Amino acid sequence: MKSIKEEANLVNKKLLLRLDLNVPIVNNKITDTTRIDKILPTLEFLINQNTRIIIISHVGRPKGKIVNELSLKLICEELSKKLNQNVKLFSKNIKEIDSKELFNNDERVIMLENIRFYPEEEENNEKFAKHLSTLADIYVNDAFSCSHRAHTSIHKITNFLPSFSGLQLDLEVNALKKITSEIKKPITCIIGGSKVSTKINIIKNLMPKFDNIIIVGGMANNIIKYMGNNIGRSLQEENSEEIIKEIFSLSEKVNCKIIYPEDILVGKNLKGESTIKQLNEIATDEMILDIGPKTTDNIINIIDKSSTILWNGPAGYYENPNFAIGSIKIAKKIIENNKSNVIYSVAGGGDTVSLINSLNAVNDFNFVSTAGGAFLEYLEGKELPGIKALN
Ligand code: 3PG
Repeated sequence: MKSIKEEANLVNKKLLLRLDLNVPIVNNKITDTTRIDKILPTLEFLINQNTRIIIISHVGRPKGKIVNELSLKLICEELSKKLNQNVKLFSKNIKEIDSKELFNNDERVIMLENIRFYPEEEENNEKFAKHLSTLADIYVNDAFSCSHRAHTSIHKITNFLPSFSGLQLDLEVNALKKITSEIKKPITCIIGGSKVSTKINIIKNLMPKFDNIIIVGGMANNIIKYMGNNIGRSLQEENSEEIIKEIFSLSEKVNCKIIYPEDILVGKNLKGESTIKQLNEIATDEMILDIGPKTTDNIINIIDKSSTILWNGPAGYYENPNFAIGSIKIAKKIIENNKSNVIYSVAGGGDTVSLINSLNAVNDFNFVSTAGGAFLEYLEGKELPGIKALN
C-alpha cells in the first residue's frame, strides 16, 4: 500500500479522492461533523501540494436511485466553510461528465454528487470505473470506513488509475496493526454490545493474540445466565450457549483469559435507579444494566497491567447516568494511563465513540475509529476489498 504522502510529484495533478462523508443528517442539518473534521488534514495537505481534487462520497443508502434528501449539498457547504474555500458540488450525471468541464480556472476542490445514486457503484462496475478514471490522474482512498465494500469507487477504480492510500486511512490501518499484528503485550480487549453472536468472530480472531478478553454489556448477560444465574428481565440472546462454550474452550487452548462481570448494577427499567447486586441475587423483575464495583475494580487492575487496550462496546446502558458508572470509570482509567504514556489505546464502535465524545476525550486515546462495519470486519481478520485493492 503506497501512501499519497510518499508521492513526490503531485503539482497540478487531478485526484479522485474517495472519502466517507456519510454523516448523520436530521431535519436538513448535519448532527455530527466528526467525519468531515477528520478529513480536513488530508484536504489541506493535498491543497498545499497544488493538486486539483475531485471528491467522491456517498451518504446513506439510496440504492442506485436519486434521493434528494441524500444529496451531498449540505456536506459540501459544510466542507466549504471548514476549508474556508469554495467547494463546488458538481451535480451533473457522473456518467456524462467530461473531464474538461470539471474545474474552472482557480477551482481546486470540487465534489461529485452522491456516488450511490448510480447502481453501478455497488455493482463494482468495470465500465463505470473506467469512466471515473478518465476524470483524474490519480486515485486516493481516504475512506477506511467504506473499505469493506467491494464498490466501484473503492475497489474497481484501482484497476484503472495509480492508486494510493490517504492520510486518514494510513492512520487507521497503522492503529489497527498495533492491535492485530504489531502488538505490544500484555494486550487486553474490552468488548461489549448486545449480541454475543455478532461479536463471536472478533473474539475468536483476537483470542490467540490477546492476554485478556473482558466481556461486558448486554452480551455478558448470556454468560452470567450460562453460569447458572437467574438474569430476570435482562437482555438475552436465544441459543447462545454453544457460542459461550466455544469461547471458553478456545480460551483454554490459546491461554487467553476471559473475564466477565462478577457483580452488576440492576434496575427495574431503563430510566430507573441502580442497585448493586451479586450474580445470584437478581430478581425476576430486574434487568442487568451495568457492571458492579468489584468488576470495575478488577477491570481497572487489568488495564493497569496492560500495555495495549482495545475497547469496543460500553459496559452498560450509558444513556442513563445511573448505569454509565462502569463505562466512565473504564474510560477514565484508559485516559489516565494514556496520558502517562504507559498504554497504547484504540477504541471503536458507535456507542463507544459517542461515550468518549460525551467525555470530550477523543484526543486522549491513541486512536478512536469512526468506522463501523469496516472496523469490525478488520478485527474479525477479514481482508477488506478496498485495502486489498491498494495493496
Ligand atoms: C459507514 O457509515 O459505516 C460507511 O459510510 C459505510 O456505509 P454502509 O454501511 O452504508 O456501506
